[in-house]
Amino acid sequence: MRHLLSAADLSLAEATAVLDLAEEMHQVQSRPVKKLPALRGRTIVNIFFEDSTRTRTSFEIAGKWLSADTINVSAKGSSVSKGESLRDTMMTLDAMGVDCFVIRHSSSGAAAQVAGWVRAQVVNAGDGQHEHPTQALLDAFAMRQHFRRFGSDAFAGRRIAIVGDLLHSRVVRSNVLLQRTLGGEVVLVAPPTLLPTGVDTWGCEVTDDFDAALADADIVMMLRVQRERMTGGFFPTEREYTERFGLTEERLALLKPEAAICHPGPMNRGVEISSAAADAANSLVLDQVSAGVAVRMSVLYHLLGSDEGAMH
Ligand code: CP
Repeated sequence: MRHLLSAADLSLAEATAVLDLAEEMHQVQSRPVKKLPALRGRTIVNIFFEDSTRTRTSFEIAGKWLSADTINVSAKGSSVSKGESLRDTMMTLDAMGVDCFVIRHSSSGAAAQVAGWVRAQVVNAGDGQHEHPTQALLDAFAMRQHFRRFGSDAFAGRRIAIVGDLLHSRVVRSNVLLQRTLGGEVVLVAPPTLLPTGVDTWGCEVTDDFDAALADADIVMMLRVQRERMTGGFFPTEREYTERFGLTEERLALLKPEAAICHPGPMNRGVEISSAAADAANSLVLDQVSAGVAVRMSVLYHLLGSDEGAMH
């Protein structure tokens, strides 16, 4: 595979290889000298047309720890703000000899379009409401580490409840696609107004009964209410949303003792997730962030590190 545009690009062997190598990369994080020579001489441009804290920073750290030259470009401060098209911008940067673009864009399908224009390899770091494949990989990494604490790290037989604003989420689609490959069972929980069109074809159980879904979930992944993408009234009030779909302190009591809580971030504390849940002992929120660097190191290595790599 030349690019990573969708979680569906990964076979079981490829996804497992990324997760396994990420385990090794994760150890780099606790070393005093965090540097491997693997991507020396390679140039990675992180080009973000939408805001990001976790993804952009972790891709930059991942590239640097692998000794690649990493450059950050954002729409603000580039010639995009003077009206240059996405195609011209990408082809201009490509002509400089870039090896890999990590791109985030507000339009669904933008990363795939860029992959068709440039010679460099492309990683989708989030395209509109479509996909965020490295988020799903890092979620799987954090879940697998959690499952291992209770015995087997297999996904088969695990129930993963993904809850909240599914309509505007790229994280949910990538998680559903990746779990289809890894073997986890995804249950989607949302009010009918926040379900994506065609969700009935995703092969997942869909419900608006959060309490029932909580009782037998191994993982509860809360999704952010994406106010910035909302144009209409998707629920009456934030308070009512929280009452029905928020992981409140009271709802924590419904979780199985070995269940864990995930959130891709950024979190709206007090809306979809309470501070009691975000900071609970069984919250994987910071494990997900930490996994982000290791998983992105692994993805970059698989794409750029070896001509015979698992993702070629
Ligand atoms: N989860 C995630 O993509 O976060 P950022 O928007 O901060 O990158």
